[in-house]
Amino acid sequence: MKPKTILPSRISSLAKLNRMLRQENYADAKFFIIVDENTFTHCLPVLVGSVSALEQAEFFEVPVGEEAKSLEVAAQLWGALLESGADRNSVIVNLGGGCVSDLGGFVAAGFKRGIRYINVPTTLIGMVDAAIGGKTAVNLGNAKNQVGFFHQPEAVCICPDFLDTLHDVDLESGFFEMAKTLLLSDDKAFDELITAVEGCKSLPLDVVKRFVPQCVDFKNCVVGADLMEKSVRKILNLGHTFGHAIESFLMDCGQPLPHGAAVGIGLKCELYLSVKKIGMSEKVYDSLCRILQTFVTVPKFSLRDTEKIISYMHQDKKNREGLILCVLLQEIGVPVIDVALDENEVRDALLKASKF
Ligand SMILES: NC(=O)c1ccc[n+]([C@@H]2O[C@H](COP(=O)([O-])OP(=O)(O)OC[C@H]3O[C@@H](n4cnc5c(N)ncnc54)[C@H](O)[C@@H]3O)[C@@H](O)[C@H]2O)c1
Ligand SMILES: [Zn+2]
Repeated sequence: MKPKTILPSRISSLAKLNRMLRQENYADAKFFIIVDENTFTHCLPVLVGSVSALEQAEFFEVPVGEEAKSLEVAAQLWGALLESGADRNSVIVNLGGGCVSDLGGFVAAGFKRGIRYINVPTTLIGMVDAAIGGKTAVNLGNAKNQVGFFHQPEAVCICPDFLDTLHDVDLESGFFEMAKTLLLSDDKAFDELITAVEGCKSLPLDVVKRFVPQCVDFKNCVVGADLMEKSVRKILNLGHTFGHAIESFLMDCGQPLPHGAAVGIGLKCELYLSVKKIGMSEKVYDSLCRILQTFVTVPKFSLRDTEKIISYMHQDKKNREGLILCVLLQEIGVPVIDVALDENEVRDALLKASKF
């Protein structure tokens, strides 16, 4: 069944979620809400206060950030579910950012061979990307998303007001996933977004909220066309071949960057190669660089660093036959998938990315 997307209209998304959970197919369901420390404080009272169907739900708190995305934490949750009498009719509600929904979806996919779950994303990355599409995963050490399942949520409930309490750094991180979506889909909207945020010291929340529904629609549309990422869904990896490797490398160095910030640097590398290899206009690359410079401090990579990043890139799930494969852009809205990169091109892009 296609997951239901709940967006706000005259009626709030949470009121619509409540209505959905009062329906017959949830009548005997036990609900379990997964939160982290921040969503426990900022979001759980709002959710339970607005969705009376969840008043009796039990909640489990997991570590903040990537630390939650581990087999150990997943195993603890499976144990806790069992102890609390969860059964195949139970429903997990993931209240949090991408780390909570990746983990909670993974736990739902594995528990009793798969139970239902609902994502209520509370970060920008969650709303425009992570909560949609049914990709669930945990990390193995610092290697990202190495074990996971495709398991679609029953519903994704988008409530942009949760963004009000998000720290700037997490909003900025989500901004680059949003920019990625518009780069893939809509040149006018990309220009509008860049113009609206240029010169701002912090991201204007109203601007960001305005673009959320468009990004949600685009992701739904791409995922709907290719649920298992055999073809068109691969375009959503724009910025991520470099981004994931940079994210893992910086975690190893003890200088972690938020996922979206790493994707921002990844976008810079991949747009640079798009100009060099397939003739994308430099104007698009320059716009991205200006925004990146405002919101992300790009680390200086040494030649030795680039070797480590390349070795992470070789572990990327998208690769085939030992080649590093990547998504590039011919122009906004025209991505090209499975472009093979040689290691010198990767080195060149990484060294270029750390220079302004
Ligand atoms: N499955 C997918 O398709 C997909 C897509 C994109 C990203 N991801 C994954 O998502 C993760 C990154 O997502 P993220 O940045 O949302 O991570 P996150 O869940 O760690 O959230 C970021 C921070 O914001 C805090 N937070 C969350 N909601 C809040 C709120 N409303 N108010 C205040 N603080 C709040 C969290 O506690 C955390 O400190 C990565 O692991 C990435 O791999 C998955
Ligand atoms: Zn991402």
